[in-house]
Parts: sequence; C-alpha cells; structure tokens
Amino acid sequence: MTIPKLIIIIIIILSVFFTKPIQSTTHFIKSTTNDTAPKQYFEVTHPLPTDNVTPSCSVNLLNHTFSNTTNSSSVTVNYTTPPDTCNWSVAILQFQAECKDEQYDRIAGIWIDGVELLRTSTAQPTENGSFWNVRKDVSRYSSVISQSNLTLTVMLQNLVNDEFTGVYDVNITLLFYSTSVRVPLSIVSEIHTSPSSRKLISVENDQEFGEEFYSNLALQLLYPYNKPADSIVPISASGGVNESFWFRIEDEFDVKTQKVKISNKTYKAVLELYVSFHGNDESWYMNPSDSYVETNHLSTGQAHGAYREVLVTIDGKLVGAVVPFPVISTRGINRLFWDPVVSIGAFNLPSYDIDLTPFLGLLLDDKNHTIGIKIADGISFWLVDANLHLWFDKSNVVKAKTLKSNVPTMEVQRSTNFELLDGEFEIQGERESKVTGWVYSSAGNLQTQCTEKIKFKSKLKYKEQGTKKEVDQRYKRKTRIKITNEVGKVVDSLEVKFKYPLKISIETKPGLDIDTSVMTTKVVQERSERFYGGKELMVLSHKQNCTGLVVVKGSFVLSGSAETQQNYNYNNGRGCYSRMVDVVGGVVVGDDTSSICVSDVDW
Ligand SMILES: *[C@@H]1O[C@H](CO)[C@@H](O)[C@H](O)[C@H]1NC(C)=O
Ligand SMILES: *[C@@H]1O[C@H](CO)[C@@H](O)[C@H](O)[C@H]1NC(C)=O
Ligand SMILES: *[C@@H]1O[C@H](CO)[C@@H](O)[C@H](O)[C@H]1NC(C)=O
Ligand SMILES: *[C@@H]1O[C@H](CO)[C@@H](O)[C@H](O)[C@H]1NC(C)=O
Ligand SMILES: *[C@@H]1O[C@H](CO)[C@@H](O)[C@H](O)[C@H]1NC(C)=O
Ligand SMILES: *[C@@H]1O[C@H](CO)[C@@H](O)[C@H](O)[C@H]1NC(C)=O
Ligand SMILES: *[C@@H]1O[C@H](CO)[C@@H](O)[C@H](O)[C@H]1NC(C)=O
Ligand SMILES: *[C@@H]1O[C@H](CO)[C@@H](O)[C@H](O)[C@H]1NC(C)=O
Ligand SMILES: *[C@@H]1O[C@H](CO)[C@@H](O)[C@H](O)[C@H]1NC(C)=O
Ligand SMILES: *[C@@H]1O[C@H](CO)[C@@H](O)[C@H](O)[C@H]1NC(C)=O
Ligand SMILES: *[C@@H]1O[C@H](CO)[C@@H](O)[C@H](O)[C@H]1NC(C)=O
Ligand SMILES: *[C@@H]1O[C@H](CO)[C@@H](O)[C@H](O)[C@H]1NC(C)=O
Repeated sequence: MTIPKLIIIIIIILSVFFTKPIQSTTHFIKSTTNDTAPKQYFEVTHPLPTDNVTPSCSVNLLNHTFSNTTNSSSVTVNYTTPPDTCNWSVAILQFQAECKDEQYDRIAGIWIDGVELLRTSTAQPTENGSFWNVRKDVSRYSSVISQSNLTLTVMLQNLVNDEFTGVYDVNITLLFYSTSVRVPLSIVSEIHTSPSSRKLISVENDQEFGEEFYSNLALQLLYPYNKPADSIVPISASGGVNESFWFRIEDEFDVKTQKVKISNKTYKAVLELYVSFHGNDESWYMNPSDSYVETNHLSTGQAHGAYREVLVTIDGKLVGAVVPFPVISTRGINRLFWDPVVSIGAFNLPSYDIDLTPFLGLLLDDKNHTIGIKIADGISFWLVDANLHLWFDKSNVVKAKTLKSNVPTMEVQRSTNFELLDGEFEIQGERESKVTGWVYSSAGNLQTQCTEKIKFKSKLKYKEQGTKKEVDQRYKRKTRIKITNEVGKVVDSLEVKFKYPLKISIETKPGLDIDTSVMTTKVVQERSERFYGGKELMVLSHKQNCTGLVVVKGSFVLSGSAETQQNYNYNNGRGCYSRMVDVVGGVVVGDDTSSICVSDVDW
C-alpha cells in the first residue's frame, strides 16, 4: 500500500497534537502582576454546619512535606484516637495543603487501616504559592475513627527534579463535634463573611438561612448512613509502601479481588467505592476508538472509546456498577480554567454506594467470599478501592436470603465512523437491574428491594483533520431502595437520581509564532444529584461553564485567557445554599451566596 507523501506529513504534524495531549501543558505563565502573596484555591461547595463551631476536641494527625516521594510514596503513622473525654458524634476531616513552584497536579488518598476517608487531587501550584483547605464530614467512618491501635496512611506521589521543584506541604486534622451543640445564629452569619481574597460577597436572608440550614449538626440523615456502620471492612490493596491501599487497575481484564468473611450478625451492608482515573484514561470521556488511533498511526495511548464503568462482583457474579463522575484534572482541557476555582469534585472526589443488603443471602454463611472490582473497557490506569460498611444486629444470628438478583452487564452499542482524522464515535448503553432479598433480625423480617436504571450516551466528534474535538456525554442513573416489613409496610426508602452531562470542545490551530499552537477550549459540565428518603431530601446541582484559549509551545503554556463560571445549589431539605462564582483570568470577579436556590435541573 502506498500513501502519498503529503498525507504522511499531514498525519505526522497532526499527530503531534495527539501525542502531546493538552494535559501535558504543565508550566505556568509568569504572572504579570506584582502580587507575591500565595493564592487560595477552592472547590465550590456548601459550608459545613460545623465550620464556625468550636470542636469538642481536635487531633492533628499528620504534618508532612511530600517532596520526591515516587519510590516511598505513602506515609504511615500511628493513628491517634480522640481522647476519652471528648464527646463527639460528628467528625470532620481537614486536609490543608500548600505548594510553591512548578509541579504537576497529583492524586492523594487518606486511609485509616485501609479504610479510605478521602480521595483528593492537588491544585496546580503557582509561582508564588497555592494553598487550599478541604473539609469533609467523615462521621460515617466513626467505627474506625474511634478505634485505637490503627495506622493512618497518606499517599501523595510527587516527583521532584530540576524543572519541577514544587513540594506539597500537607496537614491533616480531625475535628470532633458533639451534636448536643446548637449552632448560634450570630456565628452562622459569619460563615458568609468574605475571605480577604474574594470579592462581591452578598448574603440575603441571613437569619432564615442559618436557622433552617443549620438546624442540626448531624449532617447525614438519609439511608444508608443515617447511623454510621458498626464495622468497615476495607476492600483495598495491601498497603505496601509503593502501592499503598488503592488497587491500580491496568486494563479491562484486570480484576482486583479480596476475600471477606462477614459477621453472621450483619443486617445491612453497603459497598462504598472510591475511584480516580489516570494515565491514558485521565480523560477517558474524550478517548476515540482503537481503530481510529491505529488507522491513523497515532502514537497516543488515549483510546479504547469513551465509555467506562466500575464493576463490582461477589464470587464472580456482577452485583453493581457505576459510571464515575468525570472529574476533570486540575490541568485538564485548559489549565487556566482551574485557577483559583478547581473543577467539580477535584478536591473531594465523589464516592459511590452499592447496597449489598439484598446479597446478604450469599454472604451470611460464615465462609469467605470474593469481592472483585474491575473497569469495563478500562485502560491504564485506575486507582480504585472500596469500604464495605456493615451494620450488626444486637442479639441473635441474622438470617438472610437473596430472592432475586438480576444485574445485567450494560448492553453497549457503538458506532464508529471516520475517514483519516475526521470522524464520529457514538456509544450508547442502558441497564436495568433488580435485586431483592430478605433479612431476618431482631427488627423482624425485612425485605430490601433495589432497582436501578441507567442510561449512558457519548458522542465524540473529530473535525477539520482532527484538530477540532467535540465531546457530548450524558449519564443518568435512577436507583430506588425500598425496605418493607412482613406486612408489606415501607419502613425505609431511598430514591437517588444522578445526572452528569458533559460537553467539551477543543480546537487547535497553528499559532503566530513557529512551533506554537492556539487551543480554543470550552467546557460545560453538571453534577446533579437528588436523594429522597421519604421524609428527608437532599438535592445538589453544581454546574460549570468554562471558555478560554491557550497558546502552547510543546508542553509550555505561553499565554492564554479563561473564564470559569460555577453555579452551586444545595438543598438539605431544611434550607438552601446557593453560590455563584465567576472567575476571569485567575481573578475571582464574582462570588455570591444566597439562601434562594435557583435550580433548573430537569429531572
Ligand atoms: C511591578 O513592580 C515594578 C517595580 O516595583 C514596577 O516597575 C512594575 O510596573 C510593576 N508591575 C505591575 C504590573 O504592577
Ligand atoms: C513571586 O515572588 C518572588 C519572590 O518570592 C518575586 O521575585 C516574584 O516577582 C513574584 N512573582 C510575581 C509575578 O510577582
Ligand atoms: C504539627 O505541627 C504543629 C505545630 O508545630 C504541632 O503542634 C503538632 O503537634 C504537629 N503534629 C504532628 C502530628 O506532628
Ligand atoms: C524507583 O523504582 C523504580 C521501579 O521500582 C526503579 O526502577 C528506580 O530505580 C527507583 N528509583 C530510586 C531512586 O530508588
Ligand atoms: C506505633 O504503635 C506501635 C504499636 O502500638 C508501637 O510499637 C510504636 O512504637 C508506635 N510508633 C510510634 C512512632 O509511636
Ligand atoms: C501545617 O502546620 C504548620 C504548623 O502549624 C504550619 O506552619 C503550616 O503552615 C501548615 N501547613 C499547611 C499547609 O496548612
Ligand atoms: C495496642 O497494641 C498493643 C501491642 O499490639 C497492645 O499491647 C495494646 O494492648 C493494644 N491497645 C489497645 C487499646 O488495644
Ligand atoms: C527524585 O527521584 C527521582 C527518581 O526516583 C530521581 O531521578 C531524582 O533525581 C530525584 N530528585 C531529587 C531532587 O532528588
Ligand atoms: C455528650 O453529648 C450527648 C449528646 O450528643 C449529650 O446528651 C451528653 O450529655 C454529652 N455528655 C457530656 C459529658 O457532655
Ligand atoms: C456466628 O459467628 C460466630 C463468630 O464467628 C461463630 O462463633 C458462630 O458459630 C456463628 N454462628 C452460626 C450460627 O453460624
Ligand atoms: C478466608 O480468608 C482468610 C483471609 O484471606 C484466610 O486466612 C482463610 O484461610 C480463609 N478461609 C477459608 C476457609 O478459605
Ligand atoms: C453555560 O453555557 C450554556 C451554553 O453555552 C448557556 O446556555 C448557559 O446559560 C451557561 N450557564 C451559565 C451558568 O453560565
């Protein structure tokens, strides 16, 4: 076969755009201002009711500088339990970090004896320093947090050389609160005073806001974490110095397994998955088909289509699956978008629950069972582990039976259509699952039914000789959990709806100067989640819109412009918290909070 020379040259030139993925634009632009103060980065989220309350006690668990940690990446110390005199039922994990000088963004995890508490990624450091503070309610891990003789492990892989000199300084603290403390209103209003770096703060309806929103420090009232589990079994790696506790999954055939033997007193079981994607799957939602990469002789490894799912098995049988929220890396698409507001989920990656209560019939036999985790269509690499939350009955041995278990694999339809570097890739899938089981305990004979419907659709377009990429991904999940007693009365229920639409466009053109290119970028993304549990309601709608361009030379960002708008609406059933943030060129030009949610999610 002969290919005309000109076409080969075009392919070589164009493949430069692919082999140098936009994520490799790591170097920061030297700021044109004289502002030498370190800059605070933040993820838009709701304040915690505990934010301005004095904790009953706090334990500073670790101060550590992660410098050249590639081969000795995890840090393990003895975990310090809160003192016996400390009265607490709410625990907040505080992760403070700072970094100065050039460095890549990094992924990090925090575990107590292999139970993961937080998955977080770092902001892109800037010349004069970046710092941030992540707070997360970790009360659901109370059974682990209250134990002594455990270890705390933190993994943050960092590489330091002549070029990338930035080291990450990290402080980790647990703050403990008693729910008997009521939040004084005068303090609540202070939560909304503007940090010095922010502008245009306005708070409406302060009184009402505080009273409704913060009426209770016990944050999680919904099934299944309305009461923290009695025990949490980590489904994680061995915790070795190099591999730490997350499983590193290399491809779709790589199944990570762990044997578990659960207590015969277990009446409720929930598997909570922690997930992040890296390497060639860092932006899996933009990956074209293998045939496209092969036919065009591209040297990129970013392929295998744009559908991924985390699959969970018990003894090899599929029991649940999740399409993870596509958290965009803090250097993803256009790194200027994420300064100083990071992408949705970047500082507090979501975890995903699979209710295994209907499967207790399989697990409650005093025998070992194998829990497996794999990534449908995954390529290198994913960092995944899980916490198996177990609730124990006080009295007798619990009996259980799985009545119905129908969790099919997703029926995925693909259409691939391309000519040279232009093409269209469509992937669609649907799944409906239904699982039912009863559990006989001191609470009686309760039947748990879980039904789930998911829809996934991805459309990826390459235009203008592959220099223009467009992503349109949609994902919807609806899960219903219903617990009924002997006479068919509903004793607990939960309805969860997730919606994660994502649109990206990237257009690359030659720049004015030799060897430079200009990328015009756009991201429209939404994370909408609605939890409805009979009496309790929790609705989140977080949207981001980003537009901008960057001029790059090799892996250097030479110049650029970016605007990021985020709309955050959170309703905890008692009140609303709404925040709108507008960032232009790295400067927060708008940051408004109010108690009026303007959510327009089409459920
Ligand atoms: C920064 O400071 C220098 C010297 O103090 C001054 O000449 C320059 O104009 C300043 N630049 C900006 C952007 O303010
Ligand atoms: C950042 O701080 C250093 C000193 O620490 C200073 O030399 C430099 O000019 C600062 N950068 C900018 C852009 O102001
Ligand atoms: C962290 O540093 C602070 C201040 O120097 C100190 O009080 C604290 O004990 C340190 N924590 C640990 C775990 O070393
Ligand atoms: C780090 O580990 C890799 C692979 O295990 C090894 O090849 C390399 O020599 C190690 N580097 C150092 C500095 O120990
Ligand atoms: C951690 O705990 C173990 C066992 O309780 C003890 O032997 C060891 O000395 C402790 N290490 C530190 C640094 O306190
Ligand atoms: C960690 O704590 C030490 C001691 O209190 C403090 O000097 C340092 O600034 C803290 N680092 C971060 C990232 O908060
Ligand atoms: C902690 O472990 C040590 C050594 O393994 C043991 O002597 C001690 O009793 C344990 N303490 C508790 C509270 O379990
Ligand atoms: C960091 O470690 C890598 C290999 O593990 C090594 O090549 C590099 O020189 C180290 N950097 C520093 C500053 O020691
Ligand atoms: C501890 O908190 C509970 C409520 O959370 C309260 O009833 C109890 O009185 C408190 N005990 C002490 C010693 O403060
Ligand atoms: C329940 O588990 C306990 C502890 O593992 C064991 O001693 C007991 O025999 C089990 N009971 C039954 C009925 O299997
Ligand atoms: C169950 O698993 C544990 C830990 O993996 C192992 O030590 C034990 O031998 C296993 N028991 C059986 C019956 O396979
Ligand atoms: C985001 O962009 C879309 C389409 O460009 C637009 O319709 C929408 O109003 C924007 N939303 C926000 C919050 O800026």
